[in-house]
Amino acid sequence: MKYILSNIKKAKIILDKNQCIAIPTETVYGLAGNAYSDKAVKKIFKLKKRPIFNPLIVHYHSLKDLEKDCVISRDFIKLFHKFSPGPITYILRLKKNSKISKLATNRKNTLGVRFPNHSTTRKLLRFLNYPLAAPSANISTKLSPVCAQDVKDEFGKKIKFILDGGRSNVGVESTIISLVGKPKILRFGGLEISNIRKILKKPLNLSLNPKKINSPGQMKLHYSPGIPIRLNIKKPKKDEAFLLLKKTKKLNKNIYFLSKNGKLKEAAKNLYLTLRKIKKDKFKSIAVQSITNNGLGKTINDRLLRASKFNG
Ligand code: TXA
Ligand code: MG
Repeated sequence: MKYILSNIKKAKIILDKNQCIAIPTETVYGLAGNAYSDKAVKKIFKLKKRPIFNPLIVHYHSLKDLEKDCVISRDFIKLFHKFSPGPITYILRLKKNSKISKLATNRKNTLGVRFPNHSTTRKLLRFLNYPLAAPSANISTKLSPVCAQDVKDEFGKKIKFILDGGRSNVGVESTIISLVGKPKILRFGGLEISNIRKILKKPLNLSLNPKKINSPGQMKLHYSPGIPIRLNIKKPKKDEAFLLLKKTKKLNKNIYFLSKNGKLKEAAKNLYLTLRKIKKDKFKSIAVQSITNNGLGKTINDRLLRASKFNG
């Protein structure tokens, strides 16, 4: 406890100087900075090599904090009470007098907001006088980090401080829903769409691959471990790593599995970690067995499909 508190204090000192740190969340680690500061936000874009047209999502501790920056709608309140804090990001309308850096939103009048469910980061957010802009803590188009070591692997010494909060429990990014205009899902993620439908009780469209990209998670190549990936494979080539949903008795050196019993929640949690492991084990390509396209399986398949667009 003492250790956590002293690290939270350290994190605040750095963030108050408009520098960036990595923070743990239940989905993936974030590269965080003061969302009210142009200086901090510029640093995030630079470190991540993110195109400036891609807006950042902003992390809040409470509804009271959010009300200073965004217009609150009825649909939002329903979903908020059911799912937040948790793995869901809401796109809301920005208030005119909001202090959010214009660079974070690419001067749009909407804001992606999230209430992460990780005790250390929640303590940090409560302690700060501003919300945290935080994209996933990876270089643009690469795999998101799910532990402190992954963040080190991504940024090395370029990052001032990593607030270590252990392994991310969900392991894939948040589900994104736009509540500006008709509700729309912009990204599959850690919260199943069927759960959202039950609460919203309204038609819910998907907009995962729009012509005009307004979310980098919608880009065709993303979430890549940096080696080719082939999907829906029954038999891998000789030198390929073979990624399975469920553990098998046959254990070859090239076989990796995402879960013991085929549970999709466990598989999602292990997805990025396993892809990184395969790369570290020096495989030059990955063959993936077909994965059930239900519930979190949709999120896993979405990430694998985008990662499979890598062509060296
Ligand atoms: O789980 C998560 O969401 C993680 C953790 C750190 O919270 N964050 C994350 O951030 O995945 P990022 O930046 O890698 O992905 C957020 C997505 C991006 O695709 C971004 O374009 C989209 O949210 N986004 C942000 N603001 C938006 C807006 N106003 N309209 C549409 N999409 C937006
Ligand atoms: Mg990302």
